[in-house]
Amino acid sequence: KKVADPRPPSNYADLISALPLEEGWAPVRTRKFQGFWIPEPVLPGIMDMQQNFKARPDDLFVLSYPKSGTTWLKALTYAIMTRTQYPFDHHPLLGQNPHDCVPFMDRTYAKGQASELDAMPSPRILNTHLPYPLLPDSIKSLCCKVIYVCRDPKDVLVSRWYFSNRMRLQSMEPIPFTKAFEMFCEGSCPYGSVWEHVLEYWEESQRRPEKVLFLKYEEILEDPLRSVLRLAEFMGCPFSPEEEKEGVVEEVIKLCSFDKLKSLEVNKTGKLHPDFPLTNDSYFRKGEAGDWRNHMSPEMARKLDRITEQKLEGSGLTL
Ligand code: A3P
Repeated sequence: KKVADPRPPSNYADLISALPLEEGWAPVRTRKFQGFWIPEPVLPGIMDMQQNFKARPDDLFVLSYPKSGTTWLKALTYAIMTRTQYPFDHHPLLGQNPHDCVPFMDRTYAKGQASELDAMPSPRILNTHLPYPLLPDSIKSLCCKVIYVCRDPKDVLVSRWYFSNRMRLQSMEPIPFTKAFEMFCEGSCPYGSVWEHVLEYWEESQRRPEKVLFLKYEEILEDPLRSVLRLAEFMGCPFSPEEEKEGVVEEVIKLCSFDKLKSLEVNKTGKLHPDFPLTNDSYFRKGEAGDWRNHMSPEMARKLDRITEQKLEGSGLTL
């Protein structure tokens, strides 16, 4: 049962209404805040979180640009961390959506329920979509471990387009794909621009590889075994030789696989919150790399690739 926070978020309405506004992703409006397009409904929560969130040294942060594989990374890190607590056939991930196992701080703060995070036992796994410069100071000053997942921006856009259209009321037309494409190319997309978001974490992972693990969605898809071993090692709970021999790594992969999670009753019909417009199945659409080919002309793909190359030039990162 959700406990009401005795400290509701302060009223930042005046500050927010003065920020630049983008309405093209309606029903979600975004505001340009500290250089990034933040969804308006979570903005007061983010302001509150920036001022008041107290990280713990053993917190683990699962971070991403939205639609890059957050749900999967939440499931994997949670399954890795709790693998000795629960048998795989009675695991919480079988009855709960990964977003219920690893809270999304932006929304928790926006709902005035920050005390739920304080009540979590350590070590906590927490998630935000905030770009690195906007993270609360305590996460940076305590040098907490961070795992970041990125994805080919072309697939991020397609995934975002479907997700945003699912949020639209039946009376609203879907967003024309060409319009979504234009907004995305201009960096005007929730938590965007995607390139600045990715680059900040990439650079931080180069500076502090022991604290910031940078993953690509496509690499996890291609070699889940290697990715899960790497995740566990980074999290400080590597698999023992016995676990490896007994197939525990494969169990984690199977439990968190797209087909498994998508087939669960909780993810077919459940909802994250009664007031949230989407059902959990919106987080499990196709789960593949390269679906952009079914939505973009080669010319559009080339344009987006060119922007990505320009933005990432000199960084050593390719997407
Ligand atoms: P698609 O829309 O391309 O299918 P996020 O979790 O950051 O919102 O990202 C959602 C994307 O991750 C969706 O992509 C979704 O299908 C995909 N996804 C969710 N769970 C997954 C899993 N277990 N394995 C692979 N992809 C997954």
